[in-house]
Amino acid sequence: MQGYPIRRMRRLRKSPEIRGILAAPPPSPANMIWPVFIIPGKNKKIPINSMPGQFRWTTDTVLPQLEKIAKIGIGGIMLFGVPEDSGKSDDGNLALGSGNPVLKAISLIRKEIPSIAIFADLCLCGYTRNGQCGIAGADGSPDNARSLEILSKTGLAYAEAGAHGVAPSAMMDGQVCEIRKSLDSNGFSDTLIMSYSAKFASSFYGPFRDAASSAPHGADRSSHQLACGALDQAVMESILDESEGADILMVKPALPYLDVIAKTKEATRLPLAAFNVSGEYSMIHAAAERGWGNLLDMARESLISIKRAGADIIISYWSDRFNDIFQK
Ligand code: PBG
Ligand code: ZN
Repeated sequence: MQGYPIRRMRRLRKSPEIRGILAAPPPSPANMIWPVFIIPGKNKKIPINSMPGQFRWTTDTVLPQLEKIAKIGIGGIMLFGVPEDSGKSDDGNLALGSGNPVLKAISLIRKEIPSIAIFADLCLCGYTRNGQCGIAGADGSPDNARSLEILSKTGLAYAEAGAHGVAPSAMMDGQVCEIRKSLDSNGFSDTLIMSYSAKFASSFYGPFRDAASSAPHGADRSSHQLACGALDQAVMESILDESEGADILMVKPALPYLDVIAKTKEATRLPLAAFNVSGEYSMIHAAAERGWGNLLDMARESLISIKRAGADIIISYWSDRFNDIFQK
């Protein structure tokens, strides 16, 4: 290869015109999914202290907001239920009934905002009293077989409510297979499964657990979520979920795991999502508040890097500010 002075890489960067013609395509709003926290009741929009700019919404208050994000072309939403604490039990049955605000939200949003794809996060940690992602066994961590049963029932309930897809995030072995079976045998063979296939036991979920009141009591999540360094296991989890029938795979969190996104993308031809989680969002807000960086510039860099790593879909709290971030 010819080096300097024949080769001057700065020629590619010198002027805005040339930088412009070489600019990599930014993420498209169509590939963005906005996570939304739904609470029971009416006429409430409660700020989430640990996540500036994000709220817990009742279904009626979120509709106008969804209209706005649909107008800027955001492709989808991921719904998280934040039910009343009083209804929570050890078996998470709250998820199946009228105490689960997501069920009502799905059918209303499907009717009112037809252009947006609706995914329902499918886990029990927001519905169990102990904050476990499934039904706790003797050691306090989720019992795999018993958790599969309630997870597949809940997935079916979301499909019946009209979700385009369910997004199992409990990291139980075999969950995609069980959920697929239950959907198919009940006439929902067109309902998608977006699997949180490679989900790490991460400290970056802190603000989310505050927002969703879903922090685990007793056992932490390391009996089912991946250890930070477990790259091979992470790729294998995604390959297994593909073989169990997942339609879309996911790596979560995103920024500390960009290598996992890139390696997973090499291992599959299924669409790959990345979840730019609460901690990744809130720490940028925290830094910007202190004047240690520009909020929108840091957000833009986050989203471009996740796309560059290979994500086809980005699930991000920045979605509702997409136009500010990319100055459209
Ligand atoms: C539920 C779930 C969590 C997140 C998404 N689904 C929390 C957890 O596993 O404790 C985290 C999302 C975020 O931090 O933005 N299992
Ligand atoms: Zn969970």
